[in-house]
Amino acid sequence: MTGGAGFIGSCVIRTWLADSPSLQIVCVDKLTYAGNLASLAPAQATNRLVFRREDICNRAALDAILAEFRPGAIVHLAAESHVDRSIHGPDDFVQTNLVGTFALLEAARGYWQSLTGAERDAFRFHHVSTDEVFGTLGEGGRFTEDTAYAPNSPYSASKAGSDHMVRAWHHTYGLPVVTSNCSNNYGPYQFPEKLIPLMILNAIAGKQLPVYGDGGNVRDWLYVDDHARALKLVLERGKLGETYNIGGNAERKNIDVVKSLCRILDELHPQGAPHDRLITFVKDRPGHDRRYAIDSSKIERELGWRPAESFESGLRKTVQWYLDNAAWLEGVQSGDYRKWIALNYKERAA
Ligand code: NAD
Ligand code: TYD
Repeated sequence: MTGGAGFIGSCVIRTWLADSPSLQIVCVDKLTYAGNLASLAPAQATNRLVFRREDICNRAALDAILAEFRPGAIVHLAAESHVDRSIHGPDDFVQTNLVGTFALLEAARGYWQSLTGAERDAFRFHHVSTDEVFGTLGEGGRFTEDTAYAPNSPYSASKAGSDHMVRAWHHTYGLPVVTSNCSNNYGPYQFPEKLIPLMILNAIAGKQLPVYGDGGNVRDWLYVDDHARALKLVLERGKLGETYNIGGNAERKNIDVVKSLCRILDELHPQGAPHDRLITFVKDRPGHDRRYAIDSSKIERELGWRPAESFESGLRKTVQWYLDNAAWLEGVQSGDYRKWIALNYKERAA
């Protein structure tokens, strides 16, 4: 697995290892600002996790790791993942998401071609991607697997490019691939640059809650554990060469998400109540996609997946987790994090 020290990857590792007693995972992660070994602490206790600090752009390192561990599958989550950062500096997005995925695909192809018999037949490359590759929706409609790609941000363009490469490696070389495109995730261990953890952190600290534009942009939220379960099904039972959309069926306007968070915090952390006095409308993100919504009927129908967590219960659990995990938060708020927040705030001051 690549990117296993990040938000979704660490959830996948924690839940898959807990659910499958004989599973072993090798996690390859560069530990960028977004990667955090503390998120893997519960999984490391199983002794079935091996960690290798490597850049997925390093083809020789990937070849060596594949030769050493001979995995039955590769699950690819490593990426630069934050849209605002991609606007400020797209370089790392092109490197990791495009060049890195290319290096990984080539390493995977070489490894897969070296396999024989049942090992070769069983091998899978699962590419984990986003619904943002489809661009933006108006008031109606939802993204299906057949929606045309129309990425609008440097992040989504780099992910779209990686999706296309994965598709081509299947079509041209026969590499056994599956791809999944998921909506916005939230939950414990998410780096506090993304909407939900940033708002929780700021509210606890009594800082402003910066809502971009008019707050009317819509995202379709999925609790991260539900995504981790969906990924297991896609890896194990997805049809080769196909893509699967994954979404929470929980469309919300950003402003409503922030108001819900404030209400939960008023209850669980009454010291700062009412927290909605901190809501501040700030300059919009350039090229800000208006609405995302996922049609998950294919994965529901073909693989029997459904989200288990409602948005309301998931949000409450998430707030509680951030209130209970000050040490994890302290650890991720490095110098780099502080520099980024300062820059972003300066640029967004209305
Ligand atoms: P994240 O930013 O929390 O974690 C990314 C991980 O990748 C980090 O551990 C980081 O150290 C690692 N990484 C980055 N560059 C690397 C490189 N060159 N080599 C090796 N490791 C590297 O991201 P996330 O939110 O967990 O997202 C994981 C994947 O899921 C990404 O591919 C993302 O595009 C996709 N996705 C995310 C969401 C979401 O809402 N967060 C939704 C749909 C899809
Ligand atoms: P984000 O968590 O960055 O995810 P994405 O851009 O990949 O959807 O943002 C979610 C939504 O919240 C998006 O419409 C932008 C908005 N947003 C704010 O209004 N304020 C913020 O401080 C952040 C980080 C995001």
